[in-house]
Amino acid sequence: MNTEIERTVRFVKEQLEGAEAGHDWFHVERVWKLAVSIAQSEVCDCETVELAALLHDIADPKFHGGDEQLAITIAQNHLKDIEVDPDTMESVLYIIRNMSFKNSLESSDEQLSDIREKRIPLRELHVVQDADRLDAIGAIGIARTFNFGGFKNNLLHHPQMAPRLQMTKEEYKKNTGTTINHFYEKLLLLKDRMNTQKGRELAEGRHAFMETFLQQFLEEWEAAR
Ligand code: ADP
Ligand code: NI
Repeated sequence: MNTEIERTVRFVKEQLEGAEAGHDWFHVERVWKLAVSIAQSEVCDCETVELAALLHDIADPKFHGGDEQLAITIAQNHLKDIEVDPDTMESVLYIIRNMSFKNSLESSDEQLSDIREKRIPLRELHVVQDADRLDAIGAIGIARTFNFGGFKNNLLHHPQMAPRLQMTKEEYKKNTGTTINHFYEKLLLLKDRMNTQKGRELAEGRHAFMETFLQQFLEEWEAAR
């Protein structure tokens, strides 16, 4: 392992000490490994992919009073400390800013013109985003989602509360719906939003498992009523 990556692993482990279990070092480690494996089937810069995967949840605004700048500042300071070259730093920070599901709910014209001018690391962003999305679905996705719901003291399920599709970024952040609804509002949508061929393949089985889980959950719920 190169020293930049080794130092980043150490840094992220320290930063995420005591984090909520769905957004802790082990989540980051899974995303990192998945991203490296997806990157092998893509033409992209592996160093950028690894650094972005390792730093992508360094200070999630959900756990830092909504502060969206903090993660960028922490990541930037670390990248300066380990002396990565300026282009790699720009790319990694771009990926961290743009990969989250809520940010993808609203994309600006500026980003679209940047894409046309090829100034942005689109392939690398797509690889890390797929890896993060894969960890949000399947058995691990189910576990993370109920853990987060518990952390927020949300209901498991409420038969009269319908899922809210088409939420804006603000509505998504404020959402205090049930954990079962989170599957319909986000998790079941991810399979069709995968960017890479490898990501799409890996999403299939995980998606099917969530559908089986939801069917069984709702059957048991109905049987008890
Ligand atoms: P992003 O950072 O891409 O917007 P999130 O951090 O909101 O994505 O989601 C990461 C994971 O956190 C989800 O896959 C899910 O497991 C959990 N999570 C986020 N919001 C909720 C919610 N309202 N209810 C249950 N789990 C949630
Ligand atoms: Ni993540």
